[in-house]
Amino acid sequence: MLLSCWENRLFICWVMDNQFVFDLNDYTCEFFALIRREWGFVEKLEHVSVTPQKTALVKANGVTKIFRSRNGETVEALTPTTIDIAEGEFLSLIGPSGCGKSTFLRILAGLETPTAGSLEWRDGAPSSGSDIGFVFQEPVLLPWLTILDNVRFPLDVLGVGKQESTERSKAMLSLVGLADFNKALPKELSGGMRQRAAIARALVYKPRIVLMDEPFGALDLLTRDRLNDELLGIHAETGSTIVFVTHSIEEAAYLSDRVAVMSARPGRIRTVHELGLNRKRSEALKDDPEFHRWLATLRKELK
Ligand SMILES: Nc1ncnc2c1ncn2[C@@H]1O[C@H](COP(=O)(O)OP(=O)(O)OP(=O)(O)O)[C@@H](O)[C@H]1O
Ligand SMILES: [Mg+2]
Repeated sequence: MLLSCWENRLFICWVMDNQFVFDLNDYTCEFFALIRREWGFVEKLEHVSVTPQKTALVKANGVTKIFRSRNGETVEALTPTTIDIAEGEFLSLIGPSGCGKSTFLRILAGLETPTAGSLEWRDGAPSSGSDIGFVFQEPVLLPWLTILDNVRFPLDVLGVGKQESTERSKAMLSLVGLADFNKALPKELSGGMRQRAAIARALVYKPRIVLMDEPFGALDLLTRDRLNDELLGIHAETGSTIVFVTHSIEEAAYLSDRVAVMSARPGRIRTVHELGLNRKRSEALKDDPEFHRWLATLRKELK
């Protein structure tokens, strides 16, 4: 462990692999450090910014899930899993198939009950109908409703007045680039457009947290890249807290403030990396050596 002082603040750093994991007690920061493993000490510290720490929106304390099948067999999907999710952050979960990523998201969404452990929400337990947005791998849209009505649907359920719900839905569709498709039916849209509509619907009621389970997994690479950039724009604009499950290391590194790496079944969060990359992502980041160092680190951890 290293102690380091920067702009009169104390940084507590653990050297892990060739990266830093850091904790500033009352502060968090976006910075990264490179160390040369063979030197064993700091070669360069690049400070980007220090911001007051965002309070945890939800703390998962030792969340465990054991499924019981009808014939009495048990499957331990999650061993005690602990993580704080900060308000406004973009957190990705990566890990091998079957390690409990979807299970963890479903527990966060209140769709599954943990066998042990608990979730501690800062402002009380959310209502799954209005405080949590969920985006699945396949966009789930009602085929008989127009795109506008699909997006407006949760607001109607919540009893929001028609004029307000229409205005909010149109604004959200515009944000995801579907302003010209309000009156279209889902079958008239491409897969990527349907997924954008599903994202608009998940965000329209301004949920406290948006949970996304491999939302772009079924899309071609070009569409996926475009939607990644759109999602970053939406995240910057709305300030939503996003927990994002993906199998793509590159997608996780490109999108996230932090990446949590889960170990194989029974899953648990092995490490959480604060990437400290420039929040203003652009394609150029994909050529950045630091970005590639993160890809190598994450890939190695997944092996
Ligand atoms: N409802 C259920 N009943 C029984 N077992 C389940 C249930 N849901 C999940 N599991 C088991 O829990 C484990 C974790 O499943 P989960 O879907 O969370 O994995 P995952 O990390 O999302 O995998 P993938 O990357 O393939 O989507 C798996 O072994 C799965 O078979
Ligand atoms: Mg899954």
